[in-house]
Amino acid sequence: MSSGGALEAGALSILEDDPLWYKDAIFYELPLRAFYDSNGDGVGDFPGLIEKLDYLQDLGITAIWLLPFYPSPMRDGGYDIVDHRAVSPEYGTQAHVRRFIREAHRRGIRVIFDLVANHTSDRHPWFQRARRAPRGSVWRDYYVWSDTPDRFSGVRVIFQDFEESNWTWDPVAGQYYWHRFYHHQPDLNLLNPRVQKEILRIADHWLRMGVDGFRLDAVPYLVEKDGTTCEGLPETHEVLRRLHAHIDSHYPNRLLLAEANQRPIDAVNYFGQGDECHMVFNFPVMPRLFLAVRTEDKLPLQRVIEEMPPIPENCQWGMFLRNHDELTLEMVDPEERQLMWDVYAVDTEARINLGIRRRLAPLLGNHRRRIELMNALLLSLPGSPVIYYGDELGMGDNVYLDDRNGLRTPMQWSADRNAGFSRAPSQRLYLPVLNQPEYHYGSVNVELQLRHPHSLLLWMKRLIGLRRRYPAFSRGDIRFLDSETYSVLAYLRTLGEQVLLVVANLSRYVRYANLDLAQYRGWTPVELYGETRFPAVAEGRYFMSLGPHSFYWFRLEPPPG
Ligand code: BGC
Ligand code: MG
Repeated sequence: MSSGGALEAGALSILEDDPLWYKDAIFYELPLRAFYDSNGDGVGDFPGLIEKLDYLQDLGITAIWLLPFYPSPMRDGGYDIVDHRAVSPEYGTQAHVRRFIREAHRRGIRVIFDLVANHTSDRHPWFQRARRAPRGSVWRDYYVWSDTPDRFSGVRVIFQDFEESNWTWDPVAGQYYWHRFYHHQPDLNLLNPRVQKEILRIADHWLRMGVDGFRLDAVPYLVEKDGTTCEGLPETHEVLRRLHAHIDSHYPNRLLLAEANQRPIDAVNYFGQGDECHMVFNFPVMPRLFLAVRTEDKLPLQRVIEEMPPIPENCQWGMFLRNHDELTLEMVDPEERQLMWDVYAVDTEARINLGIRRRLAPLLGNHRRRIELMNALLLSLPGSPVIYYGDELGMGDNVYLDDRNGLRTPMQWSADRNAGFSRAPSQRLYLPVLNQPEYHYGSVNVELQLRHPHSLLLWMKRLIGLRRRYPAFSRGDIRFLDSETYSVLAYLRTLGEQVLLVVANLSRYVRYANLDLAQYRGWTPVELYGETRFPAVAEGRYFMSLGPHSFYWFRLEPPPG
């Protein structure tokens, strides 16, 4: 069966019929309410997003990951859902969703939604029914219950600034219910076949509308069992395999992208044998990128990438620097975590749970070269990059807002009232716009940056364009080169005949690199930004000097003949 959604979208779309499209994709993550408010109620919405699709197409991104837009009491940014198959009225209607997908496809942009299978809001009708249903009934068993808070003891608490336990007493049920996140988000019981069916129904609903896949929220925690860590259990992988098989047999070219904040060895399990998730976020590499630019030592970064287990042919890592959550430090060693806190969250207000609630630009001290360097690494290391909305402008944050809201403030479109985001009275905005001098929307905004040839936005656009021109960035192998300098990271990305060379100076000082390019004697490095031809590789090592935090992208051209 080919889905109605795919046919409908196909008529207008310029998308290639490519089951591996995500390998070359450049994702853009955005919370709907933060993007553009079309009706002046202070909240971004689908018609607003549709109006801004031209902006995204122009930026060059090829896929949108849209955060949850389902009805929700909004106590966890919309991850606390009361109806997974509906649209929250402030955002629009199902017809708007269809139009959005169609309009995105028309511009060559794919769309993935968030699928939250681990938990619901406690206001979800399933939970309201469960707490009143008899013990042991299928309805009660939609969730995970216990008579004591000692069950599954030893399982870590994730939101440790907010919750003391993963159990909360429910006086109506007369039992404790299990929750890996906020206490108002009870975990679904994926061991209940009915619950599994419900998840497939939710997926079908959006896939039929033509969505290109899902970002799967919190997958390690789907299934819990006594005597285990309740993370990444065989039954959890079974659920993912079933979802994959279901989608594969009904809809062409769809993607499952897993959020699995785990160590490398566990994270790769979510690819399965190529039969679970097509993509998995690379949580292990992310904090090491930040450590590398700060310690000016490439080795820990290089090592974690080199030691990454191989992944199935049809799979791809999802690379990111920042997202809508805190920069998580759960999976780094305690010393590394302390170092990250010491250098990136001196202001303790910036710390939350085991992480740092800051955007990219403030983390990097608003240092333009460091911002460029980090983005150049993001777009040239193996994996498909995911850019967080506003980071292409160098947007700031507001650590004084509650929870992670400081990274979710309105997109800054112009110097107009409310940053051009909304015509509502400013007190009515879902969150205030940023107005601290350094990141004020009067100077950090799309309109200005489009006019200013040296803006970060236009620089990002060129970087994205270059990345798209060279498939070796997206599908190539990686090999690190000796550079004779511990702060100069150098690697080759190769795909068939295409050979790319990346050289990056992590240091704030001028450095040199003496590269071992013996294998490419006679080849000419051509710098991609300026199409500048460098001297051909001769005998011995290849020497170059690099300014502070500078990086070069070259292609290597073979000698003529
Ligand atoms: C989402 C968070 C959310 C949590 C609980 C996460 O993985 O990214 O924003 O708070 O799931 O739903
Ligand atoms: Mg609105």
